Amino acid sequence: MFAFGDGFLRNGFVWTKDALQGLIQEKLRGYRLIVVSNREPYIHHYSGGQIECERPASGMAAALDPIMRACGGTWIAHGSGDADRSMVDDHDRLAVPPDDPQYTLRRVWLSKQQEQEYYYGLANACLWPLCHVVYTRPVFDARDWDRYREVNELFCKAILEEAEEAPTFVFIQDYHFALLPRMLRESNRGKLIVAQFWHIPWPNHEIFRTLPWAEEILDGLLGNDLLGFHLRYYCQNFLETVDHLLETKVDQVGFEITRGGKTTLIRPFPISIDFDEHSTMAQTDEVTREMSRWQKRLRLRPDLLIGIGIDRVDYTKGIPERLRAVDALLTRCREYRERLIFVQIGVPSRIHIRQYKMLNDEIEALVDEINWRWATGSWAPIVFLREQYSGPGMMALHRLANFCVVNSLHDGMNLVAKEFVASRFDGDGVLILSQFTGAARELTDALLVNPFSVEETAETMRQALEMTQEERRRRMQKMRDLVASNNIYRWAGKFLSALLRFEFAEVQPSEAAFGGHGSAVV
Ligand code: F6P
Repeated sequence: MFAFGDGFLRNGFVWTKDALQGLIQEKLRGYRLIVVSNREPYIHHYSGGQIECERPASGMAAALDPIMRACGGTWIAHGSGDADRSMVDDHDRLAVPPDDPQYTLRRVWLSKQQEQEYYYGLANACLWPLCHVVYTRPVFDARDWDRYREVNELFCKAILEEAEEAPTFVFIQDYHFALLPRMLRESNRGKLIVAQFWHIPWPNHEIFRTLPWAEEILDGLLGNDLLGFHLRYYCQNFLETVDHLLETKVDQVGFEITRGGKTTLIRPFPISIDFDEHSTMAQTDEVTREMSRWQKRLRLRPDLLIGIGIDRVDYTKGIPERLRAVDALLTRCREYRERLIFVQIGVPSRIHIRQYKMLNDEIEALVDEINWRWATGSWAPIVFLREQYSGPGMMALHRLANFCVVNSLHDGMNLVAKEFVASRFDGDGVLILSQFTGAARELTDALLVNPFSVEETAETMRQALEMTQEERRRRMQKMRDLVASNNIYRWAGKFLSALLRFEFAEVQPSEAAFGGHGSAVV
């Protein structure tokens, strides 16, 4: 058992699962912990008459699940699987992970219309493109907005049911619930600490002010005690947006906003993964067996070079740009023809939105075109797999790759980059990373690219393939050290430390989690 005092506030403190558990037991004794997100961490589906449990392709869910496994509590989320209703009790709850229960999942049911207008509409056709700024026009639809408010109210009700009258810490995830903090605040129910993490970028105020409901969204978010973003830059954008659009007191130096006598802290916390668990699992026999399966399935000769990309099929991820870069590389460097294969895993996502359908068509046509241009005999340069694979399957692919490309046009963080690094316990492999991801602020030993430049990305792929083993190892070791220490427990620990200092005024606010860092790395 850890005795914390204020030791955990020191910058050199090593955050582990035990340390996080200790902090919660010691400082939040008597509090219930409720995490809220749209996407649930475990989804039940019917498959061939059987019920199967799936993990979603979501960085947010992958990051929060180890925290909940360590700390216990209740996670409230939309029950989106077709077999979800068959798995819950009378209170819509079930214990998860299903094979080793450690916390409670409470499912909230949405009608098709609610899902269409709140999730596909306001959240993902409006706020998603608005915040990512990748030249996809946001859809502003008043019906979507009404449904967004309605679903936020539905989740507010579920939270209050789970909290009952007990002191509760509510930790909200993401842009699906911008109105929820204010709703909770106005419920005037017992002792509630409310905090939120915004997993995507926050744009500058000129962009945000185009949203017809900008003021309501900002007011909703200011119901939080603490609002976190990945980067200091996103915090600054948020402070400036509020300063321009709302009547409030904005402290641009102390990163605080006071509205109606209530203060909200705005702080950067770059999210991460459970490095130790991931790195250990990558070394198991199960992953080695998965590697043999891939080798058979892709007919990998020992002399082939392998590039990989693993993403949800989303227009922010730069998948067409990446495929065009492979094409440009083959045009420019004859020596890689018949020697390089690029494996792209594309997990289908948000397919009811027009831009996502169009993107799927574009990718399919590009893969056809590029393979038609270069394929000879049994070799074709691009393998596009429109499926989701298990954790060990992905780790196996990481381990087989000469290089991994994460060239998002804009990305709050991107955990695929950190997962690739965690899988490479052999110290080899090259990460090519977009300079417009949050991860690029930490993983400076990746090869950084401008994803909008196909030529630059192609040239960087060539550099990756020609890098000496010594340099590959030097870079990978530095990235592994960094992800090992800036792990998911540190993210949660820093977040909680900032919140607890504020709530219980134990330490002066200038210290630790925020302490004057100019970069994302806190
Ligand atoms: O990380 C951003 C995020 O929107 C998460 O909130 C979400 O779970 C993930 O991307 C995948 O999106 P979705 O939940 O819409 O499939």
